[in-house]
Amino acid sequence: MLKRAINSVKHTNLTAKQQSKIQKIVRVDQAGELGADYIYAGQHLVFSNTKPALAPLIKHMWEQEIHHHNTFDSIQTEGRVRPSLLTPVWKAAAFGLGVGTAALGKEAAMACTEAVETVIGGHYNTQLRWLHKEFADSDIEGITELKEIIKNFRDDELEHLDTAVVEGAKQAVPYYLLTETIKTGCRVAIWIAERV
Ligand SMILES: [Fe+2]
Ligand SMILES: [Fe+2]
Repeated sequence: MLKRAINSVKHTNLTAKQQSKIQKIVRVDQAGELGADYIYAGQHLVFSNTKPALAPLIKHMWEQEIHHHNTFDSIQTEGRVRPSLLTPVWKAAAFGLGVGTAALGKEAAMACTEAVETVIGGHYNTQLRWLHKEFADSDIEGITELKEIIKNFRDDELEHLDTAVVEGAKQAVPYYLLTETIKTGCRVAIWIAERV
């Protein structure tokens, strides 16, 4: 599936506009999954020390993010898509967000996951809608697989969102300030990573 998805990026049957849009999708998704990987790395580091009982739950979500990250790394490298130029910034910001929210406590860490996954779930849905519409009646190699990958990851993200709510995200203080700030940060990062 991954091999075929990579072909979608390199496909010569695509118009220049479609090619550039798919490259944007791969660039922003790779940056986003890298960010998710680093957020959980930061949270895991803190909780391993402060709340070891919580570490396995974080580890489980982290491992899924590592898989997402590796997948988009392969699509990006083998599809020869230029990575976001701000990759070092995304790494630092995401790791800092993970460490910072975990340091505030379990609820804040969960509120962070809730906020991030709300934005990312919506972001993946927007991409899926575009892919469905744009390639509704064309059968281009790799597009189906790319859609399948995005769909699977979207479902994982929504599962993380549910877990975060069950684990007390709404009890974070100050909930609205925290989640709205993180959501805005994610939206800004998405906007930038699509372009730079
Ligand atoms: Fe992810
Ligand atoms: Fe996630």
